[in-house]
Amino acid sequence: MKYLKVQICNTLWQFAIVTLMVTGPFLVGQGLPTETSVLFAGSGVCASCHEPGGPNPGALLGPDGEDVSPTTQWRSTMMANAARDPLWRAKVSAEISGFPALQQIIEDKCTTCHTPMPRTEAHYLGNEYYSIDGIEEDPLAMDGVSCTLCHQIMADNMGLDESFSGHYQINEDHIIYGPYTNPVANPMINQSGYTPVYSEHIESSELCATCHTLFTPYVDSSGTILGEAPEQTPYLEWLNSSFPADGVGCQTCHMPYLFDPIVISNRPNSLGSRTPYAQHYFVGGNIFMLKLLKQFGGELGVTASEANFDSTIALTYRLLQNETAEITLDPSWYSSQTLQVGVRVQNNTGHKFPTAYPSRRAWIKLMVTTDTDTVFTSGDWDPQTGQINGLDTPYEPHHNIIDSPDQVQIYQPIPQNVYGDPTFTLLMISGYAKDNRIPPIGFTTDGPHYDSTAVAGNALSDPDFNRDESGAEGSGSDIITYRIGSLDPLQQYYITAELLYQSVSPEYLADLEQYDTPEVNAFFGYYNQVTNAPVVIDETSSLAPMGDVCLPGDLNDDNLLDVLDIVLLVNCILEGESCSCGDLNEDGVNDVLDVVGLVGLIIG
Ligand code: HEC
Ligand code: HEC
Ligand code: HEC
Ligand code: HEC
Ligand code: HEC
Repeated sequence: MKYLKVQICNTLWQFAIVTLMVTGPFLVGQGLPTETSVLFAGSGVCASCHEPGGPNPGALLGPDGEDVSPTTQWRSTMMANAARDPLWRAKVSAEISGFPALQQIIEDKCTTCHTPMPRTEAHYLGNEYYSIDGIEEDPLAMDGVSCTLCHQIMADNMGLDESFSGHYQINEDHIIYGPYTNPVANPMINQSGYTPVYSEHIESSELCATCHTLFTPYVDSSGTILGEAPEQTPYLEWLNSSFPADGVGCQTCHMPYLFDPIVISNRPNSLGSRTPYAQHYFVGGNIFMLKLLKQFGGELGVTASEANFDSTIALTYRLLQNETAEITLDPSWYSSQTLQVGVRVQNNTGHKFPTAYPSRRAWIKLMVTTDTDTVFTSGDWDPQTGQINGLDTPYEPHHNIIDSPDQVQIYQPIPQNVYGDPTFTLLMISGYAKDNRIPPIGFTTDGPHYDSTAVAGNALSDPDFNRDESGAEGSGSDIITYRIGSLDPLQQYYITAELLYQSVSPEYLADLEQYDTPEVNAFFGYYNQVTNAPVVIDETSSLAPMGDVCLPGDLNDDNLLDVLDIVLLVNCILEGESCSCGDLNEDGVNDVLDVVGLVGLIIG
């Protein structure tokens, strides 16, 4: 109640400020909330100085005069829109409808990271639970993961297990931590009531880890909470990689530096420049939701413009297509009629690929064609539904060898409930039936926190999954061997492979659709108007080498099958050599079975 009053007072007071700002000379921070609470301020308060405009029009511009301000870069990111995200709203309502007795716990949990400001405030004011009820009307809730949330996180518990799952610590001191020593503090103190202070902890991965390490409680079918299971662990995956030792953290890749000198506030006029300058890009893989937010921005109340979203979407494509993963092909003839294609996938991210939210998946589409026909496809998908063709039930296992078009390599987590059945209901996830997401370089099964990031399913026994040729762990790669039989070695074949990525899998959506709530229906209303086509992360193609020109069994290449060929085959088996055209049953070895096959062919 006390909080509400503060809110209303502030709203009236801020209304005057907003009017002043809009009619005044500085048209900055438009649409962003300028409300404040005991602990927090809306992003509009910070935008008034940390956006281009104001007394120093050259501030916050990049080398080409482009707007590189935190405000502009952040407002169209998923974090700025974490509370407007209609999939988040749908999922919260679905979980509550599944377990109505746990409503308070669910709402309080889900808001910890998606509407962190009012939720933190509610607990600070002594409430045990924060309710999601009416968050649309609370501007600080809709401001998502905003400036004064991240910049007030204290170093105290960072990196400790107790900081995970949204247990970041914030107090009432109004200190804004930043990466530069000796900030010119007075203008900011006077105008916003917050004090900029240098602290190196703002540059550490452990800051992001407070929300990007998520353990979620799980229940049995009666709704009794039995424990907690890892739902999202990019930080723990990163910790078990070679990146920490190389000094490469979350910010290195997700807030890339500009090395040009940048003036970081549009006032005072005399302010000097700073370098390096971290950009508030915060892009990951979620092109799907960014496009949806852009398309339905009016209804969803976003503050970012279409141009802002276009730039965040373009940065996401750039990250996915240039910095995420690479595939390479290695074709050869396995036997006279069987083409073998090794496909190697290398993860270049700082965590598993895909990582984080369990609805994400990546897969390989491999095609073998002639000039006129397609002779083999694995991993084709339906453009209507975004679903992969020929999936096994209950789920497609991890493959090391693929020799049939209904097998497909999908890198994904398959969460399961306490009864061992696959589920995407977050409160039912007690572990994973399959987790073959490709680990980051340097990841080992005896590395830190392996229990919370474990590989699960067939990938565990795949000799080249996260292993190099010598068998050592930590390659951050996987090789799938495709074997395509009954081909003509005289034919020219072409091979193309694509690495595809999808943010929400149809299986995940089918789980969500079971719950009939207004928010779930609203989400599917949007969903049915957008495409769920995967993003192509990498593609490559190659000509297959020409096969051996021979008739199976014709070892002396005289185009006749006769007793001479039997003699040659027996000889070459005894010598232990590989006999050209001698693998009659195409099992990859020359042995007595091939002799029997050849005799059979000769006597008709
Ligand atoms: C500890 C912080 C934290 C908590 C608590 C949390 N989330 Fe999230 N959530 C995240 C992060 C971080 C992501 C983004 C991960 C990614 O992009 O892969 C996310 C993503 C999501 C997404 C995917 C959104 C999209 O557009 O693809 C949904 C849905 C979601 N969360 C629902 C929930 C629900 C329901 C709860 C409560 C049961 C919850 N979250 C609690 C941090 C949290
Ligand atoms: C998700 C957390 C997060 C959010 C949200 C966020 N920041 Fe930052 N900000 C950081 C981190 C981390 C750094 C330091 C990065 C580094 O130096 O490696 C930073 C750096 C800065 C800097 C120093 C200049 C620079 O970019 O290096 C300013 C100024 C700043 N932020 C202002 C803002 C404002 C204003 C907002 C809201 C519009 C905001 N930040 C939102 C995490 C955040
Ligand atoms: C009156 C203008 C003004 C307002 C409003 C303002 N700032 Fe600042 N901010 C500054 C100035 C000036 C500096 C110091 C720049 C320097 O020394 O190079 C600064 C520095 C910072 C830094 C870097 C500190 C460091 O030591 O690295 C961060 C982060 C920051 N502000 C965030 C915010 C946030 C978050 C808000 C919203 C609550 C905000 N600012 C509001 C003017 C402002
Ligand atoms: C207060 C909690 C919180 C903190 C702290 C936080 N994040 Fe996030 N982050 C989220 C949530 C919630 C989402 C997902 C929002 C959604 O999808 O609805 C998210 C999403 C992301 C995404 C995915 C964007 C996409 O398009 O797929 C990236 C990347 C990211 N955060 C990076 C960072 C980095 C880097 C830091 C540290 C500087 C950080 N986050 C700190 C809560 C947080
Ligand atoms: C070496 C670069 C690199 C480092 C280090 C790195 N990431 Fe990423 N991250 C990426 C790339 C590339 C992607 C896009 C591909 C993907 O989704 O996995 C990504 C994606 C993400 C996503 C979005 C996943 C989604 O569902 O859309 C989140 C969240 C994320 N990273 C968080 C983090 C956190 C937290 C850290 C630090 C512990 C971190 N990253 C460190 C490169 C990096």
